[in-house]
Amino acid sequence: MTHVGHMECAGNMGGFRPMAGYCRASVILLLGCAALFLTGCHDAREPRDAQARRGAALFAQHCAACHGPAAVGQDPTNPFGSADPQAGFVAPALNGRGHCFDHTPAVLQQLIGQGSGVPGSPMHGFAHTLSEAEQIAVIAYLYELWPRPVRRAYRERHDAALRELWPRGR
Ligand code: HEC
Repeated sequence: MTHVGHMECAGNMGGFRPMAGYCRASVILLLGCAALFLTGCHDAREPRDAQARRGAALFAQHCAACHGPAAVGQDPTNPFGSADPQAGFVAPALNGRGHCFDHTPAVLQQLIGQGSGVPGSPMHGFAHTLSEAEQIAVIAYLYELWPRPVRRAYRERHDAALRELWPRGR
């Protein structure tokens, strides 16, 4: 049996396969460097797990029209937005530049599920559009956008609630 193994190996070495191996290795290396370069530029993490990626897709579909792409806010120069019916409503940034992280996980879920409750606000609830798991996925995506110190402070403040939100950690 070992003899057959050697034969197969020798057969492979005879063709262009070793060369293909080198090519593949350098492509992987290149991709690895590119990934390192890209992720190294951001403090906030790209959505890297399935739940956050699902949240990103849902956000793009249901929230980005008002809160902007990647949650930069309706007016990126005004990350806190406005919930003032007189002055007019402006959807705030949710990417860690506004004050989205001042809300407990439960309040975030309520805001998304039931809406802000401010009379006349375009921030309506999504309980009929998004399942609870989908709402939590959106929160996971937003959390991943927050800068590291914001995430750390949030985790420390809401440890128990976050364990319930994503039991397998994040
Ligand atoms: C039609 C526009 C619109 C859509 C769509 C929308 N929002 Fe909003 N959102 C707003 C506005 C305007 C405010 C600020 C006014 C208010 O709180 O009533 C707001 C406020 C919020 C807040 C409170 C933020 C803070 O800093 O206090 C959260 C959280 C939020 N939205 C999440 C979401 C999520 C998640 C989605 C998608 C599932 C979404 N919104 C979809 C317009 C929108």
